Amino acid sequence: SDRGRCFGYEKCFHHLITCLLQLFLCHRSAFVLSFAPGPFVTEGYGRGCEGAVLNRPLTAAVITLSDKGARGERKDESGPVAKEMLEQAGYEVVETLLIPDEPALLKTQLMRLADGRQVDLILTSGGTGFSLRDQTPEATMAVADRNAPGIAEAIRYRSLQITDRAMLSRGASVIRKKTLIVNLPGSPKAVKESLGFILDSLEHGIKILRGSASECARP
Ligand code: MTE
Repeated sequence: SDRGRCFGYEKCFHHLITCLLQLFLCHRSAFVLSFAPGPFVTEGYGRGCEGAVLNRPLTAAVITLSDKGARGERKDESGPVAKEMLEQAGYEVVETLLIPDEPALLKTQLMRLADGRQVDLILTSGGTGFSLRDQTPEATMAVADRNAPGIAEAIRYRSLQITDRAMLSRGASVIRKKTLIVNLPGSPKAVKESLGFILDSLEHGIKILRGSASECARP
């Protein structure tokens, strides 16, 4: 009977080690990538593995592009507006970043968030205008697998009913793997307006992208 009890402990210990190993392997990419040098991460935490796509909350990341913001010369108000709206819509916002208008840096972060963290939605804010430093759409398109132009078109179409200057935003909306990436203009006002126009429709598209919704319930 002693032998039997001892075997029980061993089995239990073996089970614990297996669980820990699985946990590590499952989150390996997130661990590695989270510690990679990068931009100023204003918030962030891990998420589970791919699998329970049907019932888990949708995940999102928000990237604010601002040279002044990244230098600490301007408070980022746009990122928090996007984060709050996403959370109110039921998203889990797993990271918010504030980076300068550097296309190489943006591309790296978009790829990390899409491929490593596998977030469902990435919103960028800023860098969509005509300034020579405004390179957000180009960096976004450079990492895209597929175009999803309707979202950017809807933002401009609806925004033009508020201000003619909406035509000056060159924002893109694309898909990389199973992540939707949407560029929003930079001001908090523009973020609130633009996101307000698209948020309701995004969930259905994201669920189709994730393979957890296959048909449209309504036209
Ligand atoms: N879209 C909405 N809904 N509301 C706005 O106030 N501002 C516009 C445009 N899109 C605006 C908008 C302006 S003034 C500019 S210059 C462009 O977005 C580009 O902004 P960005 O360079 O901050 O990305």
